[in-house]
Amino acid sequence: MLSQGTAVISNASVDGRAVGAFATYNLEQVEAVVAAGEQTELPVLLLAGSSHFRHANRRLLAVLALTAAEHARTEVGVHLDHCRDLDELRWCVEAGYSSVMYDGSHDPFEQNVAGTADAVRIAHDRGVWVEGELGAVGGDEDVSTGVRTGAMTDPQQAAEFVDRTGVDALAVAVGNVHGFSPDARLDLERLAEIRQAVSVPLVLHGASGLPAEEVRKAIKLGVAKINVNAELRRAYLDAAAAALPDLVEGADAVGMWRAGRQAVQQQVVETLLAYGT
Ligand code: 13P
Repeated sequence: MLSQGTAVISNASVDGRAVGAFATYNLEQVEAVVAAGEQTELPVLLLAGSSHFRHANRRLLAVLALTAAEHARTEVGVHLDHCRDLDELRWCVEAGYSSVMYDGSHDPFEQNVAGTADAVRIAHDRGVWVEGELGAVGGDEDVSTGVRTGAMTDPQQAAEFVDRTGVDALAVAVGNVHGFSPDARLDLERLAEIRQAVSVPLVLHGASGLPAEEVRKAIKLGVAKINVNAELRRAYLDAAAAALPDLVEGADAVGMWRAGRQAVQQQVVETLLAYGT
């Protein structure tokens, strides 16, 4: 069923686990993430977000994700990832999204506060929860570029940010980056200080490629949602590439999509079992 309210993340926070949020650009990925949630009987969030709309038509991807969520045999949230456009955010809230992220992390602090507070007003009117971001998680959301970490989240500023915006969850920058980055390490001391300073659940973007042990420690320190994208793209591409030589001759595109979907489902199951229980 489609997730309602903040329970999906607040329950994870109380139970000391993290809900998995997985990037989706197409039908096969949406199906794979939902199937993994059903297989593990764990809640999942479908990230059908701003950068994904550059690949897939917004209305079509939203309808796809929302329909899959409504008919799922487990709790499935549909989450707007990395939105910087309040009109787009309003559209998604009205379409039925269960949560949204307003990403003002690249703006000066006051501008980030103002934009995020506006997002909270729009979303809370419809019972939709909001994630904000403070500090800068480096890297590209759609391709892996091996970047350095951006500006880290300041714990005291985080407290002020949460207080003034009313966000329900806070994405932090503690050494995490988008995409695979073999040198990325989490600053767990900073994370512990942020945890002391703010009461809302914390969100870890850029979970792909981080050592599992570090992610587990981060969950113990208050991370209740982890975002995964690059690992799913890699799983999809590797499976499709492996299947292609046999499939090309028969023009069997369905075989390629099926292989990609299975690989993504397996990857999501692994992530859910590692961090979601
Ligand atoms: P990765 O691509 O590193 O998994 O990051 C995903 C993400 O944070 C989406 O918001």
